[in-house]
Amino acid sequence: MTEKRVTFASKIGIVAAAAGSAVGLGNIWRFPSQTADGGGAIFILIYIACILFFGIPLMMSEFMVGRAARANTAGAFQKLAPGTPWKWVGRLGVLTGFVIMGFYMVVSGWTLDYFFQSLSGSLHKVDNLSAHFDALQANPVRQIAWMIPFVFLSVFFIVSGVKKGIERSAKIFMPLLFLLLIVLAIRSITLEGAIRGLSFLFRPDLSHVKSTVFLDAMGQAFFSLSLGMGCMITYGSYFNNNTDLAKTSIQVSTLDTLVAILAGVVIFPSAFALTANPETIVNELVAGGPGLLFITLPELFNQMPLSMVWSALFFCLLALAALTSTISLMEVVTVYLHEEYRVSRLKGTLLVSAGVIILGIISSYSSLFFNVLDVASAKFMLPIGGFFICLFMGWRLKKNLILLQLTNNGELPARAKLLNGYLFLLRYVIPIAILSIFVYGIVG
Ligand code: PFF
Repeated sequence: MTEKRVTFASKIGIVAAAAGSAVGLGNIWRFPSQTADGGGAIFILIYIACILFFGIPLMMSEFMVGRAARANTAGAFQKLAPGTPWKWVGRLGVLTGFVIMGFYMVVSGWTLDYFFQSLSGSLHKVDNLSAHFDALQANPVRQIAWMIPFVFLSVFFIVSGVKKGIERSAKIFMPLLFLLLIVLAIRSITLEGAIRGLSFLFRPDLSHVKSTVFLDAMGQAFFSLSLGMGCMITYGSYFNNNTDLAKTSIQVSTLDTLVAILAGVVIFPSAFALTANPETIVNELVAGGPGLLFITLPELFNQMPLSMVWSALFFCLLALAALTSTISLMEVVTVYLHEEYRVSRLKGTLLVSAGVIILGIISSYSSLFFNVLDVASAKFMLPIGGFFICLFMGWRLKKNLILLQLTNNGELPARAKLLNGYLFLLRYVIPIAILSIFVYGIVG
């Protein structure tokens, strides 16, 4: 751990890398299906509240822990609170990263599959897109055959290092994805009948609300912002000393939320406009679960001129957004092995890949296993990790150290005004809110 740590090269690079981790399948695949399941607008309102009250303060906290310690997630707790059990919070994070990769890589494989189907034109010829997606789900060998190349794609970027691999790829692909989503959103909302989809997204309707909606929205917020497992601790450890952590957290969270909502605006109006049974669409959306994106979007592309081109471009960018997230997940585990057990980055990455491929194979064969990994990580492991990170910041770290991180050693004196409110959130508001949401989600 004595070797000099690399840092990201530029301010834009820092935001792009952190946003690259945050923006991924969570926004474009998971957010819409969770929103459908959570009853639309109500879910979105609670989700946004979670981003504001938990997400931004927690992201700042993870950045601070990472930059103050300049170590991997478990090493960071060890360094800032030597000889205490806090390092277990970091270890839980490493385990969570592993669990997430166990299903995330499978979905990433689907995006590659759909990309190549778009390129070859075969997706364009499919009549029943829902049955087509079901056929993929029922074919584990095919899912595995697309997942494994994706794992190795991530390995390639991890091995080529922090600056070249992560930062450069995020800087190019993220803005492209954003632009493409805007084009698709415009096409979607100009379809006839799209307005019902927009109203499902933005007009709260209490008749579809479930008692777990708070837990679901909180889990989605943690998942989407890559919080609660030390991913942002690891990235924070590569930040420069003059990075404004408060500003960066706000920028990354805003970008991430915009992408999720844009994805909703692409998917729901088209789902409502293109359905044959408007009466049952809400139930279908709820039941559609993981397939929503892979069924509704190809239908939207078929409404556009040059549908193959749009579809190939979209699935290519989606695969890249997934890649910048899998890189961050893999980085957390790899740098942990590298720094704590002294294995080389290459060996560490290969070890991680072997484990992830095994989990991915089981997930491809068993949708139950897939769902258990998804629910366990997003709804339990990440919020629990976030809960302890809050307690660590609020009760264990010295106030002065937090002040130094917040103000960049005094260079941003105006930030000092945030300190007391920020500590109050970390000490009381966020931990109590997380606990209450758990209890309500489980008992309610
Ligand atoms: N935030 C990513 C997404 O929304 O797709 C997923 C993710 C990446 C979760 C990294 C957690 C993490 F540490």
